[in-house]
Amino acid sequence: MHIPHVALIPGDGIGPEVVDAAVAVADAALARDGARVEWTRFDWSTNYYLQHGHMTPSDGLQRLRAFDAILLGAVGDPRVPDTVTLHELIFPIRRVFEQYLNLRPAYLYKGVVSPLRGVEAGDIDMVIVRENTEGEYSHVGGRLHVGTEGEVAMQTNVFTRRGCARIIRAAFELARTRRRHVTSITKSNAQAYSMVLWDEVFREVARDYADVRADSLLVDAAAMDLVRRPGHFDVIVASNLFGDILSDLAAEVVGGLGMTPSGNINPERSAPSMFEPVHGSAPDIAGRGIANPIATVLSVAMLLAHVGQGGAAERINRAVAAVLASEGVRTPDLGGTAGTSEMTRAIIDRLDE
Ligand code: NAI
Ligand code: MG
Repeated sequence: MHIPHVALIPGDGIGPEVVDAAVAVADAALARDGARVEWTRFDWSTNYYLQHGHMTPSDGLQRLRAFDAILLGAVGDPRVPDTVTLHELIFPIRRVFEQYLNLRPAYLYKGVVSPLRGVEAGDIDMVIVRENTEGEYSHVGGRLHVGTEGEVAMQTNVFTRRGCARIIRAAFELARTRRRHVTSITKSNAQAYSMVLWDEVFREVARDYADVRADSLLVDAAAMDLVRRPGHFDVIVASNLFGDILSDLAAEVVGGLGMTPSGNINPERSAPSMFEPVHGSAPDIAGRGIANPIATVLSVAMLLAHVGQGGAAERINRAVAAVLASEGVRTPDLGGTAGTSEMTRAIIDRLDE
């Protein structure tokens, strides 16, 4: 039996706190079935950067390639610009490992209060399928006449037919396992080249999925609808930037960023996939032991399913739902007073349900 090898990059802020929690839950869930995962921890973070002048050693990505999957906490620290920390770590991993499929489920659990009126558990159940390797985050551009009155900054969006087609196809495939509804979100009335290409490819791909309802929305209207009728959405497919922004909105309507996991998936499995909470390093609450670990716990469940440990993944998902459904343990973001370790313990205690 192959023992999955997983790289841990806890990172900054609450990253190490929530990664420790997720590993504890995963180990406990795996142990129930006599299984295990071998974890290897990398201290690549802002502290590492301040010591070494870069976020990873020069062979960092090469070392990661040997793993079956990666679990990331978050990076970002007020001491170093995000354009260094995120750009030297997260974006290269997503691009080099062709993790073009970013899955971001948002589900309203029983026992979690949505800030929206009149929505019950299960009413909100969507997955944002975010393009993860091109679009607005392509890192193409430059600055000219820096620091002068005449300064110019240019940032180029890169949309390719291949990139659009593969992410849209992935969204339709996912929809077939769910409620068979895909909503494509663009801004093609204003972005008249790149997003018109996206819309065209969306219509083409949709023809291959006659059994799936296909809708298109402009991103501003979509933002409104995520508040007005969140239950309308099943699978959302969007570009890198729009998927990113809408993810935080989707998270908020299901109880906040402490609740939403994500997977950066290389569907061809030609390189490892990376799993991480949607949230960042939350410097405002770091070090206080009050971060909600659920987003990372659900991320490690996605990871386990990806590496062939679906039983443990199911166990974790059921345990999280059970803790939330019962009154009691809640972290402050969910209106309670429990700490990260108390919430983690509560989840572990429910792994047999
Ligand atoms: P953030 O997601 O870290 O925090 C936003 C708000 O949500 C904060 O008030 C925070 O306390 C709260 N929050 C987030 N996760 C929580 C949790 N698990 N439990 C309870 N409350 C939680 O976003 P922010 O503040 O904009 O960014 C902080 C840093 O994180 C920045 O350096 C940013 O670039 C970085 N970042 C990194 C990401 C990554 O590593 N993938 C993703 C997003 C942001
Ligand atoms: Mg984000």
